[in-house]
Amino acid sequence: FYGPVISSKDLTAYHAWPRCVLCVGADGHIAWIEHDVAPSDLQTVLETNGSADANFIELRAGEFLLPGFVDTHTHAPQVPNIGSGQQYTLLEWLQHVTFPMEEQFADVSFAHTSYKDVVRRIIDSGTTTCCYYSTLHLDATKALADVVHAAGQRAFVGKCNMDVNDLCATYVESDAAASLRDTDNLIAYIRALPHDLVRPVLTPRFALSCSRQLLSALGERARADRSLLVQTHIDENIGEIQAVHNTFPECSSYAAVYDKYNLLGQHTVLAHAVHLTDAELELIKERRSGVAHCPTSNFNLNSGICNVGRLLDNGINARLVGLGTDISGGFSTSILTEIRHASIASKALLMHTGSESQRHTDSTFEGKPLGVAACLHLATLGGARVCGLGERVGKFAPGYAFDALLVSVRTDAGNPRLWGVEQDRELGIKRLGHILDSMLERFLFTGDDRNILRVYVQGKCIGGAAWR
Ligand code: GUN
Ligand code: FE
Repeated sequence: FYGPVISSKDLTAYHAWPRCVLCVGADGHIAWIEHDVAPSDLQTVLETNGSADANFIELRAGEFLLPGFVDTHTHAPQVPNIGSGQQYTLLEWLQHVTFPMEEQFADVSFAHTSYKDVVRRIIDSGTTTCCYYSTLHLDATKALADVVHAAGQRAFVGKCNMDVNDLCATYVESDAAASLRDTDNLIAYIRALPHDLVRPVLTPRFALSCSRQLLSALGERARADRSLLVQTHIDENIGEIQAVHNTFPECSSYAAVYDKYNLLGQHTVLAHAVHLTDAELELIKERRSGVAHCPTSNFNLNSGICNVGRLLDNGINARLVGLGTDISGGFSTSILTEIRHASIASKALLMHTGSESQRHTDSTFEGKPLGVAACLHLATLGGARVCGLGERVGKFAPGYAFDALLVSVRTDAGNPRLWGVEQDRELGIKRLGHILDSMLERFLFTGDDRNILRVYVQGKCIGGAAWR
């Protein structure tokens, strides 16, 4: 590829290379990158790198490459419900909207058909890595893994562990043993798939859906196999937290429940974390677990506003925070929506509390709006780190997998100058950089799947508006 390339550096900065050459090897990994190549030097650079015969794609004005989005938390079987039930808060929403829909996935053929649509929609939204919850059904979860595998998306697929359900008597596993047997079966099934883009994830749905026996056995599995990711919900809603305290009075906090059963580890993805106490934050930091920030869902189900700045300042494992769509708590399949709501959430917190919300004098993020660089980081590299893939995906660097989006802002405005897309590569590099900054910000805040022309995973184009 020759053209503008953008890639996250950290929470405060990103790289924007207006005339970059990025070469992807046949194995789907990035072979080499030259950051600034004038058109007159292009041929020489290709020859020097031994890539003169490479299949060559020159980006057009208004196009750029971005690392693919990482969705650290979503529920595939809830996509058919998207946009409904906004009058509820969490527990009533689970009871009246979510569990009745999930129950229908007992029908494997319904599951397979639905998941094909779901996964296609999520890929075309620009998500190259996705952490999926399925339902409690083994066969339907295998169907989800099959569909994701066939589509070529990078993903974690988990079957919900739920041997307790006080909200819906018909949607529950018979006992802990059955839940574990199906979990083991699924893990073996996914690990036997021909390529390893799809991986299993232990999915104790939340503390309220699991018996102590089940939590304990799942924790044993997590401890015995450190390569297994764990995903669950935490501190999402006040009523939920109260119910957890009532159910586990022997534990000092919600986080302490997971910790007691060895489910709070380096490979744990905790969704929401809206109402974490200081003690919980300290515990999570010590255990090096990551957080999936799901701002759309947190707004939509009236759960609260997660103070992401506080998490970032407290260095949850080197700032292990990503974004999650949490469909259908959230009403969008796109991480772009999460970026927007993460930004709005940070500003809404400020309106509530003013700048004195800064609890630490050395605060870097708390009490401030999240900037573009932070948003991009959460959506890509931060998310990759949360699910243990930070050394493989989330940014563009040699050796990283080419999981990428070819973004175009060409088509979205009648007058290309509105988007600042003119990109005469002979312009000064600084001016080109400013144009690219502006294209990125506008894409993040106003773009949609029409602007995502191609979606690549491991070097292979698997979706996007220009795919097929
Ligand atoms: N807590 C337990 N299950 C769920 C779910 O499906 N969605 C959300 N947002 N929270 C949960
Ligand atoms: Fe969720």
